[in-house]
Amino acid sequence: MQNHILVTGGAGFIGSNFVQRWIQSATTPVLNLDKLTYAGNLQNLASISNDPRHTFVREDINDAGVVGKLFEQYMPTSVVHFAAESHVDRSIHGPADFVKTNINGTFTLLEEARAYWSSLKADAQQRFRFLHVSTDEVYGSLNAGDPAFTEEHKYCPNSPYSASKAASDHLVRAYHHTYGLPTIITNCSNNYGPYQFPEKLIPLMVLNAMNGKPLPVYGDGKNVRDWLYVEDHCEALMLVLRKGRVGETYNIGGWNERTNLDVVNSVCSILDELRPSGKPHASLVEFVKDRPGHDRRYAIDATKIANELGWKPKETFETGIRKTVEWYLANEKWINGVRTGEYQKWINLQYISK
Ligand code: NAD
Ligand code: TYD
Repeated sequence: MQNHILVTGGAGFIGSNFVQRWIQSATTPVLNLDKLTYAGNLQNLASISNDPRHTFVREDINDAGVVGKLFEQYMPTSVVHFAAESHVDRSIHGPADFVKTNINGTFTLLEEARAYWSSLKADAQQRFRFLHVSTDEVYGSLNAGDPAFTEEHKYCPNSPYSASKAASDHLVRAYHHTYGLPTIITNCSNNYGPYQFPEKLIPLMVLNAMNGKPLPVYGDGKNVRDWLYVEDHCEALMLVLRKGRVGETYNIGGWNERTNLDVVNSVCSILDELRPSGKPHASLVEFVKDRPGHDRRYAIDATKIANELGWKPKETFETGIRKTVEWYLANEKWINGVRTGEYQKWINLQYISK
């Protein structure tokens, strides 16, 4: 069972898009390690559930014994590390899981990867890659008019989520610098697209609007995010894995800055066209109490990955958001599957009990 790639968190939003894409386009089989927290969903992988090149194991990256055995058994040529707690609002309610998975879990994975990598022959060692998938939120918040984040921007994380991701980035960097582990870090902007859990802005707004429920916009709705269609992110990651320089960081972004209110209005006008309800969906917008410590603006300067690796996104925000709304409209079964007790518990905690 050799020459797999080990993907962690491959049942989540970006991980499952990545694994599906990998199976479509590459020959190397995938070992998909995921704990299946509330955010992990095997329905995301239904299209490849019978493909012999995809092996799923329900395990925790914090379990060193299990992770070490999987390295021995599957002898991965690369690790692509997505597994994380990923929602800022949840990190405000309960930061402990973020420290446990994002920091301790990444540490455990690095330790097991290092032990395995050290045992390889020199040429296999050279080919091995540990690709750490991270976020632009580690850089903190920009003011209007500030230049976008480059790879040289100082780390300034503001939420428990971004602080835990920043800590994991530092560990990954240190494992390259100290032990020579061939790591690469990517810091990407906000993703959207199919299979995103409806706690995040875009799917939450699509589902609420489809159901005539209020659309809760935090604060004045003028916070800015830089949106990237998930398939563009996955393509960038594959390219970085193949051609990226070891020890480097690559920022990935779509050059698509939008205020939250613009994003919500885009969703609403697509729904007005595809699912007219008698009144404009935007009339459901409700301004609600702001998120504590809410970062004002993120923006990615993706010049390095464009110049070095020739990557650029295929989707504009307009094409990507239309595809996304259409996907949610066509996948009611998936939506009903994720609206479990756990989902309702979160909606009650975050939006109803306030
Ligand atoms: P997600 O929350 O949808 O998925 C996370 C996955 O990790 C889930 O399948 C979950 O079951 C799994 N997981 C959690 N804890 C685990 C553990 N201890 N052991 C094994 N598996 C575990 O997240 P996502 O949006 O797909 O993000 C994936 C990665 O990309 C994260 O590292 C995130 O920080 C990063 N990222 C996300 C975005 C974004 O906009 N979503 C942007 C940039 C970077
Ligand atoms: P989110 O999807 O949680 O991503 P992140 O916080 O990682 O950028 O939120 C995106 C933006 O949308 C962020 O500025 C917070 C805002 N937001 C709302 O206004 N209302 C909501 O219900 C949610 C979930 C987010």
